Amino acid sequence: MPEPTKPLLRALAGEEVWPPPVWLMRQAGRYLPEYRAVRAGVKDFVALCTTPELAAEVTLQPIRRYGFDAAILFSDILILPWALGHGLEFKEGEGPVLPKLRDAAGLAALDPARVADAVAPVMETVRRVRAGLAREGFGQTALIGFAGAPFTVACYMVEGGGSRDFAATRAMAYADPGLFGGLMDKLTEATIGYLSAQAEAGAEVLMLFDSWAGVLSPSLFRQHVVGPATRIVSELNRRHPGIPVIGFPRLAGLMIGEYAATGVNAIGMDTSMDLARAAALLPDGIAMQGNLDPMALVAGGDALFAEVDTILLAMKRRPFIFNLGHGIVPQTPPEHVKALVERVRAA
Ligand code: CP3
Repeated sequence: MPEPTKPLLRALAGEEVWPPPVWLMRQAGRYLPEYRAVRAGVKDFVALCTTPELAAEVTLQPIRRYGFDAAILFSDILILPWALGHGLEFKEGEGPVLPKLRDAAGLAALDPARVADAVAPVMETVRRVRAGLAREGFGQTALIGFAGAPFTVACYMVEGGGSRDFAATRAMAYADPGLFGGLMDKLTEATIGYLSAQAEAGAEVLMLFDSWAGVLSPSLFRQHVVGPATRIVSELNRRHPGIPVIGFPRLAGLMIGEYAATGVNAIGMDTSMDLARAAALLPDGIAMQGNLDPMALVAGGDALFAEVDTILLAMKRRPFIFNLGHGIVPQTPPEHVKALVERVRAA
């Protein structure tokens, strides 16, 4: 394996890169006027995710503005259940709406044989973004592919959309472990195939978003977060040695030490994490990523810089990737993002 040269890949290989590489979760999106212009021209969000020309364009928009160290494929974690044949709609101001998966018939209806064709446009987007980064002179920017982790995807499928506490999903995990385990297994295998296809198409890093990992008890966290991630990472490592994996078990708290044993190269830290204390729970070689509060980025000014500097100070002597603790929000002023990147790059 040749030594990586892109800053993000070096940090993921365990190197202390300073100033650290920087990118932001949801860096493509509604806070950018150029994204809203593209979005206004498509009939719905799924159409945007499955039209390679447009998905590649919006992936590149934040790179052109800010020169981030990573581009993240423009898609959504709910595209995989959609590809399995589960319905998906994004309603204005409401977020995703899906059928509720509550029984064996719902599980049996998920069809892995549909996935490859359904996600073919996503793979074409990956190829176009790689070509676009090279063509536009972003030779230091690495492309991240991603999927939702099985538990978080299951949350949306069982509830039929977002939820404050995913109570029906958690209750199903206890009350019907056969059904819930069957769903988790099916999603885990589909996730491996989907991420593997992204690596083959040109993704240089793969990320697993487990946004709702933190709603689980420690025993269920081991079973439905650590277990599937371990299986996914080991299979990806076998198929694609040298492609690093970032895990984001949001709100995992004290469980991140166990999550590190999944074999991920980096762990995304949510906003609640004290980085120095989190680092003490992790092996030295693993990279940490995070964890600026998205609301500090909305506020800007001295409050933003104070938070950025605190993070940089805590992470100076270890492999680190600067990011937010959760996705950027639509009301974020684009000029605050520019100020943030300049502050990190001046570290
Ligand atoms: O820039 C990027 O980060 C890449 C693209 C990306 C999107 N969603 C685009 C998107 C990524 C990596 C995601 C991940 C995602 N999607 C997660 C995990 C991370 C997290 O935020 O916790 C989750 C839970 C989802 C599910 C999802 N998608 C929800 C709950 C919503 C509605 C909320 C909202 O912000 O509207 C979406 C829609 C979505 N995904 C949008 C974008 C840009 C907004 C839709 C639009 O433009 O109309």
